[in-house]
Amino acid sequence: MKFTDEIKRRRTFGIISHPDAGKTTLTEKLLLFGGAIQEAGAVKSNKIKKGATSDFMEIERQRGISVATSVLAFEYDGIKINILDTPGHKDFAEDTFRTLTAVDSVIVVIDVAKGVEEQTEKLVEVCRMRNIPMIVFINKMDREGKDAFELLDEIEQKLSLRVTPLSFPIGMGYDFKGIYNIWEKNINLFTGDPRKDIEDTIEISDLKSEKLDELLGSKAADTLREEIELIEGVYPKFDNKAYLGGNLQPVFFGSALNNFGVRELLDCFISIAPTPRAKDSEERTVKPDEKQFTGFVFKIHANMDPKHRDRLAFIKIVSGIFERNKPYLHVRHGKNLKFSSPNAFFAEKKEIVDISYPGDIVGLHDTGNFKIGDTLTEGEVLHYRGIPSFSPEHFRYINNADPMKSKQLEKGIDQLMDEGVAQLFTLEMNNRKVIGTVGALQFEVIQYRLEHEYGAKCTYENVNVFKATWVEVKDPKSEEFKDFKRVKAKFLAHDKRGQLVFFADSQFSLQMTQSKYPSIKFHLVSEF
Ligand code: G4P
Repeated sequence: MKFTDEIKRRRTFGIISHPDAGKTTLTEKLLLFGGAIQEAGAVKSNKIKKGATSDFMEIERQRGISVATSVLAFEYDGIKINILDTPGHKDFAEDTFRTLTAVDSVIVVIDVAKGVEEQTEKLVEVCRMRNIPMIVFINKMDREGKDAFELLDEIEQKLSLRVTPLSFPIGMGYDFKGIYNIWEKNINLFTGDPRKDIEDTIEISDLKSEKLDELLGSKAADTLREEIELIEGVYPKFDNKAYLGGNLQPVFFGSALNNFGVRELLDCFISIAPTPRAKDSEERTVKPDEKQFTGFVFKIHANMDPKHRDRLAFIKIVSGIFERNKPYLHVRHGKNLKFSSPNAFFAEKKEIVDISYPGDIVGLHDTGNFKIGDTLTEGEVLHYRGIPSFSPEHFRYINNADPMKSKQLEKGIDQLMDEGVAQLFTLEMNNRKVIGTVGALQFEVIQYRLEHEYGAKCTYENVNVFKATWVEVKDPKSEEFKDFKRVKAKFLAHDKRGQLVFFADSQFSLQMTQSKYPSIKFHLVSEF
């Protein structure tokens, strides 16, 4: 197959949702359609159940599972689909943000009863900022939930999306009769038999047809006619360009558990979802069909086995063909590296691959060379735009609990930060180290991993920080900046890249500081 045809047949995407909306179930059903797995239950949920905070085995289990489900590739109808796993647990939100830099589109799963939930809001906001094309799947239609129109309103308002339904439910919960597929103009009747993976669809090219009354009964048929009329009057017509630009989001309804409405979603997805997209680097925009290979690291996974400290670095291929055993330039180190066993991931196995194409993900064994955001090329000096850091939510001093092992501790902290487990700040005043995380669970993960993988012990101490803000200053020589540095000396730190950070201890002090020093800007994101 021609290089450009290989690119055209690839779809790399992520499924995002609030925990429990049905992401794992939907993933599994998609894989069933691809014939990638034989039975339900093959995709392990990577959820951390409540109460697992102090259960280290659970953390380990979680890490093992998330390597297994990091990327799931399968073929459907001649299309190569790569699903990138995005942890739903909020303590791992950073991981998900980073994964979103490697997807070309997303599917957002929403629970019909719960509607838009907190984690969905955050993740969709990141996608919106990056104009990532999104399709919405409203799940669990076999249960009682919110009225479909009410839910569409909620999605528009809470998520600031512009939606257009491409399928519509006929009843719900106990009365759920099926789905009218607006996209394909047919009806799929709900039988509640999850084993049925090929659905019987009934063509309804004209909603006025009496066939509709025969199928649904005249009351439900009339309701559907009215609803579809309303949809046509109220919602914008589907427009592929608007969808690809992140300006219009098609909506599907279904029940993942019953494998209902999933085929409609998948068929539409492969026909409208973007092929691998061009990506901006600091130097220029790189197109997927360029001959020379380029790619970047978006995720690093530590080995489960504490005796082997090697890690797996996940590379998204942006352009060209990635070949096994060919030397590539590690731009940050300025040296060439060869990879003898790059892994590709399939639903039930990983395999060594000789070549991979744009849109694909390869896992490279790494002994500590890679950091999240690193770029690999055939020689060109390119830096793919970094993945911004967000202000952590939790902060603690980290102390060395075993003076004999300070080297190990330093190395461990260094590598865990490269993996993106947490952020490290060094206070300007006394060089004390502060760890910042998105969720409190990470502190335990770090402590556990430092001990088991690096033989180092640490303790934590509370530090009163509300937010870390990245400081932008136009004139470092100004009196204002000098005054700021003197007065706030106790609250200044540097992040791992050496950028100046101001620790605000409350929302109020952040506002006061901002109004006292108007020419200095305080950002909650490291890129500005
Ligand atoms: P997540 O990955 O988004 O966290 O959600 P997951 O797929 O694990 O689904 C969460 C729960 O919702 C599961 O039940 C799952 O069976 C159920 N579910 C998913 N899709 C549907 C659906 O279409 N209809 C209904 N009624 N339920 C659905 P659980 O009891 O929490 O887990 P399990 O013990 O069944 O695995």
